[in-house]
Amino acid sequence: MRKGILLAGGTGSRLYPLTNNINKHLLPIYNKPMIYYSLSVLMLAGIREILIISTNESLPKFKDHFGDGDRLGVSISYDQQDAPNGIPEALLIGEKFIDGSPVALLLGDNIFFGAGLGSRLQNVHDGKNATIFCHEVKDPHRYGVVNLRKNGTIENIVEKPANPQSNYAVTGLYFYPNDAPELARKLEPSDRGELEITDLNNLYLEQGRLNLENLSRGFSWHDAGTESALLDASNFVAAIEKRQSLWIGCIEEIAWIMGWIDKKQIKEYSDKIKNSTYGKYLQSLIAENQ
Ligand code: DAU
Repeated sequence: MRKGILLAGGTGSRLYPLTNNINKHLLPIYNKPMIYYSLSVLMLAGIREILIISTNESLPKFKDHFGDGDRLGVSISYDQQDAPNGIPEALLIGEKFIDGSPVALLLGDNIFFGAGLGSRLQNVHDGKNATIFCHEVKDPHRYGVVNLRKNGTIENIVEKPANPQSNYAVTGLYFYPNDAPELARKLEPSDRGELEITDLNNLYLEQGRLNLENLSRGFSWHDAGTESALLDASNFVAAIEKRQSLWIGCIEEIAWIMGWIDKKQIKEYSDKIKNSTYGKYLQSLIAENQ
């Protein structure tokens, strides 16, 4: 069974003073903490064993939110990253947790939305290949960028190129086979002093084991790494939720849809927070389905 790692560490230095004494992944995206959106993506992918990696000082706050995951019908454990040494370090910190399984690694500041996302992710094969997900963006220089050959195969991936050769950004969702920690151990820090996830993906590419899934037009993807991206993500979620009356990133709703918790558990939780719109939304869900 595929396991999931949610990486929610770092210093959030690009967002100071917003992140002066709060972890970036707990900042609000409209009406929920940022990490709800990424957690919901792992859940939609059918992943029930999840490791949250963050800084020592932030871990208690995540534990306050999710505990052992029982109220969501999943198992959540926690581990610590001492310093932001790079995204692939999550695979080394999480090696015991991974324990020879395939693993999905997701950055806690990435927000995905699109019809059929869950089944698309559930259908990614566990075999020997890694899978990355790309999305066409206007500002590729901020991301890992995929260069494609004319026949559509991947030529290479370049981290934050000054002159991007394509608009295909690599999103912060990576599906790896069970040898990911072994390959991550081969990486050397880059010029910016970090282990680079792009280097790991290029290793899989060199071995002919990298698949690319394009999240095209019907999907939207935000990362919330800058104040402007944070505002855009909030505005996006607000626009969808006000118009459709269906929420994005409501983890209790997803647990219920997946059949991992029942109406009684939603009621118990929503009763505790019934003064909030979040609590009212949960209550409306179970009322509609009496
Ligand atoms: O968002 C997708 C992009 O994420 C990819 O296109 C890039 O290839 C990838 O390198 C990464 O780029 P960023 O510059 O956005 O990474 P950043 O350092 O901002 O970290 C992304 C998230 O991961 C952020 O929520 C903090 C967390 N993080 C990051 C590092 C390096 C950690 O928890 N620990 C770390 O050591």
